[in-house]
Amino acid sequence: RIPTKIYSNASLASIAVAKEISDLIRQRQEDGKHVVLGLATGSTPIKVYKELIRLHKEEGLSFSNVYSFNLDEYYPMQPDSIHSYVRFMEEQLFNHVDIPKGNYNIPNGTLPQEDIAAFCAEYEQKIEDLGGIDFQLLGIGGNGHIGFNEPGSLQNSKTRLITLDHVTRAAAAGEFQGIQKVPRKAITAGVSTIMKAERIVLMGLGEGKSKIVAAAVEGPITDQVPASYLQLHSNTMFVIDEPCSSELT
Ligand code: F6R
Repeated sequence: RIPTKIYSNASLASIAVAKEISDLIRQRQEDGKHVVLGLATGSTPIKVYKELIRLHKEEGLSFSNVYSFNLDEYYPMQPDSIHSYVRFMEEQLFNHVDIPKGNYNIPNGTLPQEDIAAFCAEYEQKIEDLGGIDFQLLGIGGNGHIGFNEPGSLQNSKTRLITLDHVTRAAAAGEFQGIQKVPRKAITAGVSTIMKAERIVLMGLGEGKSKIVAAAVEGPITDQVPASYLQLHSNTMFVIDEPCSSELT
């Protein structure tokens, strides 16, 4: 069973997660060291990023020693597209804080397909060269995916090009004005890439995620619910709001 912290609402959950991240950044700054964050997109972390921006603007939190690696990007995808996760991260966080431009990394959705494997290997190498991910933030898909590791993803999977699940494309259909326009593929950090992080916090918000969160926390460890692999990680916590806790025993 994965340790789970329940907050009465999404704002309180998000503020708590932002506090953990900012404490880590500040601690490393005091020690004269950098910190490596693994970051997620989607609706779930938006309030965490808002709070981090507030901490930067109002409480002097600096991101000058922060490196980050995002979990995923659609493929193909141009960075200036409104659907791009590069654009998402710049609008939701990076443009509003003092992270150096070269310090954040997002999988490149513009490469020719034959160059993707080499890009993915470099992505993994870059993380390792910086000493690994200190803190990994995750959301969870309705089908149990973490990053875009869809059901069937193996525990030893690395950063790679994947085919998106129907469930995932259906969830994105609204933003893309129809499922037909949602890309069929994405580049995602692998299960093993995620599991190597020193600390993992998965956030689940809303009743819609309650069943899959219960399956991940209490159910069998199975490739059919990739988030259940997190039961094998010794420093993972789920941070959820009350509506999301309704299926936990
Ligand atoms: C996003 C990601 C995905 C999302 C998940 C939940 O970078 O890796 O796993 O975290 O699909 O998405 P939301 O938060 O929009 O419900």
